[in-house]
Amino acid sequence: MVAESTLGEAAAAIVARPPLVALTGAGISAESGIPTFRSPGGLWEKFDPAVYASIEAFRRDPAKYWSIRGEFIRNLDAYRPNPGHLALAELEAAGLLRHLITQNIDGLHQKAGSRSVTELHGNLREIFCLACRRRYLAPRIPPGTPPRCDCGGVLKPNTVLFGEALPPAALERALREAAGCGCLLVVGTSALVQPAASLPSIAREHGAWVIEVNLERSAAAAELFLEGPAGVVLPQLAARVLAEREKAPR
Ligand code: APR
Repeated sequence: MVAESTLGEAAAAIVARPPLVALTGAGISAESGIPTFRSPGGLWEKFDPAVYASIEAFRRDPAKYWSIRGEFIRNLDAYRPNPGHLALAELEAAGLLRHLITQNIDGLHQKAGSRSVTELHGNLREIFCLACRRRYLAPRIPPGTPPRCDCGGVLKPNTVLFGEALPPAALERALREAAGCGCLLVVGTSALVQPAASLPSIAREHGAWVIEVNLERSAAAAELFLEGPAGVVLPQLAARVLAEREKAPR
């Protein structure tokens, strides 16, 4: 697990180099029972994202997407935040985390109490009819694969599929926060999918330190690497940051 010295160094950096911004990926939700995409057992090990999760494939055959995501979406309310999500919400409440950028679509950061959140890839909470734009709230969507609107149109979650543009406002906010932070805390992401994958280098180019929490080093190429599961490491880190702030001169 994480060496005491590394935890202390990361906590000192976070307090000394405000503001802190976080970037999270599927790994922070792994301990909530939600599979990741590329780590062992991940969704894309079983299913080709080009066939199941691109906008082109969805328009051609939406049943493929719904066959692998329908159950997760209909059971979305059952998933709960884990201590990793809660630790980030605690840092925000203590005024020590300015903003959280997530690639996740599960809504667990908001369930944990995080308020200042950018959902780069949208969210599964809202499902829209591609024909009439009527909005349904997961998990109360009609049965069927794919589920259809009363008007007969196909329903699609408000998430970004491969080949789709990101929500412009979300992308603009994420770029601004990465360029304006003193430390970027990168948690549970392989840092392979653009444009999220560029955020660590954007932060670094603007003088920030990149601190990573992951089971293994990712392409984020962090200055400080805290090895371990987010649900274990983030509560330890949050406790050290809060203690460090108490020691810091007023
Ligand atoms: N704690 C911390 N990190 C973890 C844990 C854990 N318990 N379990 C797995 N990880 C790490 C893995 O080591 C890996 O680096 O989480 C990362 C998960 O990587 P991906 O599965 O690639 O997920 P992510 O980086 O979020 O994918 C980005 O790709 O498919 C698209 O839109 C999808 O938002 C997703 C994007």
